Amino acid sequence: MATALITGGTSGIGAEFARQLAARGHDIVLVARDTSRLDAMAAELRGRAGDRETPDSQISVETMVADLAKPEDTDRVAARLGDRQHPIDFFVNNAGFRVSSRLANPDIAEHDRALNVMVRAVLVLGGAAARAMRERGSGAIVNVASINGQLTLSGYSAIKAWVRVYSESLSNELRGHGVTVTALMPGWVRTEFHQRAGTTKGEAGRGGIPGFLWLEPGLLVRECLRDVDKGRVISIPTARYRFLSWVVKHLPDATVRWVSRGISLSRSNAADS
Ligand SMILES: NC(=O)c1ccc[n+]([C@@H]2O[C@H](COP(=O)([O-])OP(=O)(O)OC[C@H]3O[C@@H](n4cnc5c(N)ncnc54)[C@H](OP(=O)(O)O)[C@@H]3O)[C@@H](O)[C@H]2O)c1
Repeated sequence: MATALITGGTSGIGAEFARQLAARGHDIVLVARDTSRLDAMAAELRGRAGDRETPDSQISVETMVADLAKPEDTDRVAARLGDRQHPIDFFVNNAGFRVSSRLANPDIAEHDRALNVMVRAVLVLGGAAARAMRERGSGAIVNVASINGQLTLSGYSAIKAWVRVYSESLSNELRGHGVTVTALMPGWVRTEFHQRAGTTKGEAGRGGIPGFLWLEPGLLVRECLRDVDKGRVISIPTARYRFLSWVVKHLPDATVRWVSRGISLSRSNAADS
């Protein structure tokens, strides 16, 4: 039986990966900070597996409480990824959050936390998964980047651009070893991500983001898993976002900065209203 480990597997995109990989018959390891949400997600996954009619539909669900902003917690998760007795076949480097702090803010606490969770932990855990999978000659790694990384909006854009380049580089390093690496680049997805940032301005119809740009996590993850099955290095779910990504890629850098300034301005106006 294959096993998938998902960081941030209790909510939004990570929870959807857990549901769809469990539905494919994977055993699941969930990583997050909130114990009660980990227990609730584990119970949901076990219940769903029990509902299926095939006799071998039971899956095992393991939970790990870890704050990936803390290097010692990240090391524990890395050790689990490297456990030869209980190998991980599918790893989703997903945990993350929106960074609202401005780049010139003298208090860099939020940037520090973001770099630890969305860069340092991604590197440490991606490396641990890569070593174990390369040794076995098989496996899949998905790193959750963002279309935001093609823009120049914030420290978050810079972090997600790093995740994409990191994924492409890791994919090169693992080429020929039977391990696929995919950078998932979602657009705006309906998850708690936007509310956790302390505002509802990300909801459809507000903050200048048109409704058709909002994606459901189920669709996003279904398309991403299809791309992983095909061994694709970049996954941009939905034709509308593939088109937008293509346009941004072909615009002059100065135009991308101008568009980014417009989005930032509409966000701060929405926050003020
Ligand atoms: N939603 C979007 O529009 C969107 C678009 C592009 C990319 N993304 C990316 O997609 C990923 C998932 O976001 P989401 O939208 O699904 O957000 P979400 O619904 O807020 O879920 C975030 C998950 O990450 C976990 N997490 C957060 N901080 C953590 C930490 N320090 N240590 C361990 N786990 C932590 C959370 O659990 P705990 O709070 O219990 O730890 C939760 O399970 C992120 O990397 C995000 O940047 C999202």
